[in-house]
Amino acid sequence: MATRSSKKRPTLKTERLILRPFALNDAPRVALLAGDRDVAKTTLALGHPYEVSSAENWIATHQEGFEKSKQVVFAITLKNNHELIGAMGLVLNLDQEIAELGYWIGKPYWSRGYCTDAAREILHFAFTKLSLNRVHAHHFSHNPASGRVMQKVGMRHEGRLRQHVKKWGEFFDVEAYGILRSEFV
Ligand SMILES: CC(C)(COP(=O)(O)OP(=O)(O)OC[C@H]1O[C@@H](n2cnc3c(N)ncnc32)[C@H](O)[C@@H]1OP(=O)(O)O)[C@@H](O)C(=O)NCCC(=O)NCCS
Repeated sequence: MATRSSKKRPTLKTERLILRPFALNDAPRVALLAGDRDVAKTTLALGHPYEVSSAENWIATHQEGFEKSKQVVFAITLKNNHELIGAMGLVLNLDQEIAELGYWIGKPYWSRGYCTDAAREILHFAFTKLSLNRVHAHHFSHNPASGRVMQKVGMRHEGRLRQHVKKWGEFFDVEAYGILRSEFV
């Protein structure tokens, strides 16, 4: 639970985006965007249907997760009108100096480069502020748009994990990507 002495979660900026902590009143917007079946179907984290209460429960974990150095989660918002368009986060393992990157963008905002912008900034944060050595991510093999994002930010394809995940009762292959601090420019 956030208290006055809480560690302040970071806010990052790019030319077009502000990446800020989620607040509980973002929950209806999260439920609307992440509640789209097309957004949920290629993510492991999102169920469907996705209720406002699920979004509230998820957002309520962020401060504690940050304080325990387990995760850092950003709301992706547009700089020009502050609209919330998606989410991106790092699941941290500070002992190993690694993190896993995950994200979704609301469907009306796809293919405008927003995910790539946010991922680049969050990798920069991971390597410079958190001093991590490696960030990894994976995507369903049938989700090439996510693979493009990983490639565009300089992550390397490291292999295919066969039937690594089960989503809605079906097993799927995933593509594994990673990037080292020494490779990030
Ligand atoms: C994957 C996702 C986050 C991408 O977000 P986005 O903001 O549209 O990403 P960007 O615009 O930065 O880049 C998308 C790239 O994929 C490309 N792309 C889109 N659909 C594609 C397809 N079917 N096949 C191949 N490439 C595709 C785009 O053209 C773009 O590449 P380009 O700049 O080289 O043209 C978004 O589609 C999404 O949220 N999907 C549902 C949730 C999800 O899958 N999350 C990721 C879990 S690993």
